[in-house]
Amino acid sequence: MGRAFPYVIIGGGVAAGYAALEFTKKGLSHGELCIISDEPVAPYERPALSKGFLFPEAPSRLPGFHTCVGANEEKLTPNWYKEHGIELILGTRVESANVRRKTLLTTMGETITYEFLIIATGSRVVKLEEIGINGSDAENVCYLRDLADATKLVNVMQKCRNGNAIVIGGGYIGMECAASLVMNKINVSMVFPGPYCMSRLFTPKIASYYEDFYKSKGVNFIKGTSVSSLVFNSEGKVTGANLKDGRQLPADMIIVGIGARPNTNLFTGQLTFEKGGIKVNSQLQSSNPSVYAVGDVTSFPVKFYGDTRRVEHVDAARRTARHAVSAIMDPKNTPGFDYLPFFYSRVFSLSWRFYGDNVGEVVHFGDFNGTKFGALWRSNGCLVGCFLEGGGDDDYVAIAKAVRDKAAVADLGELERAGLGFAVEV
Ligand code: FDA
Repeated sequence: MGRAFPYVIIGGGVAAGYAALEFTKKGLSHGELCIISDEPVAPYERPALSKGFLFPEAPSRLPGFHTCVGANEEKLTPNWYKEHGIELILGTRVESANVRRKTLLTTMGETITYEFLIIATGSRVVKLEEIGINGSDAENVCYLRDLADATKLVNVMQKCRNGNAIVIGGGYIGMECAASLVMNKINVSMVFPGPYCMSRLFTPKIASYYEDFYKSKGVNFIKGTSVSSLVFNSEGKVTGANLKDGRQLPADMIIVGIGARPNTNLFTGQLTFEKGGIKVNSQLQSSNPSVYAVGDVTSFPVKFYGDTRRVEHVDAARRTARHAVSAIMDPKNTPGFDYLPFFYSRVFSLSWRFYGDNVGEVVHFGDFNGTKFGALWRSNGCLVGCFLEGGGDDDYVAIAKAVRDKAAVADLGELERAGLGFAVEV
């Protein structure tokens, strides 16, 4: 059994949805594009799973957050794919790929042949077992990567009202889940080994603001240690966790947010890799000219960093996807991809954005007792990064531009005094 398509996308997540829209903008004909996804639903905005999806009141549900609503573009419901003649093969995994023969084999036993392939397989969560802890299969241990995980999490939260949750990990999944647990009236302890939350991005001063805010909502931070094992009852349910520092915490549920790994196994030994991702050029084209890689799996040249990086963020997924499609369909009019790294998060009433890089010297600005503050990073005499909590649209446009332009900063003290004004005036 087999079918052939000019264009095939493996993976039906954020990047796949944005790629599909871009294909139609570039003049795709009916029957030319096939998307194969092991999820049972059409591509959706994954960040919604740790935000609106977990709200106790009026939660977001599909079809409300199908791509590409996250960028205020058309919402691609299953019907949209039908209307555009795009073959959406759902609930089906690609089991093996042969890039020399341009074929894919699915779990349904179908062989699919392509002229151009876009790899958009995203990431998977790191499981507890990978750090030496058992318990991933317990009914009250939750991860958060896909709709099935989020649905389980909602069900577990509903059974745990006024109970205790342990969040393992202090990154953005941990932080966003902790906020949702509080909103669902669950007592939260966050356990992570670092000295403060979001330590890869936040400065200690920024982290301290968010930790204080979370503490004011009742969240208990247990830092500088980690979970060594989980405690189970006779039915296999988790009832607590042992910490490396000897403490034991009670738990009615556990959320694990300890990182993600790109889904690249299908292509090991077939494509060139760098920094754990599939290495591509500035057109998102891999070492095989018929194969492009986008989203979490791609290691692409980031001019801004002067380096090749893998970026596990939604903005990069959207933009790499659009760019790869443009490079395939309209190569002559597609210049090299020029990406300004951008991350964001929303928790409780808070909302921040970060542009650029957090290297070099840092100064803080704004009112850390209020609602609008941030940090600016200078490296080699230039502005290279800006974090802003509570900004308005105009502020974010201004800081993105100042960072992209790498505005010259002669005097660090002046940068600190000017704060956000520095970016706005550049
Ligand atoms: P994505 O993971 O979206 O999609 C990959 C798809 O491929 C999945 O459907 C998967 O099942 C499928 N697949 C994998 N292997 C397959 C195979 N062999 N065969 C068929 N299908 C296969 N970022 C940010 O900047 N701000 C934020 O607030 C958030 N929030 C957030 C919350 C949560 C809960 C998560 C999990 C992630 C975020 N992110 C984020 C990160 C962001 O969502 C992520 O970077 C993008 O979803 C990446 O898009 P991709 O399309 O690359 O992968």
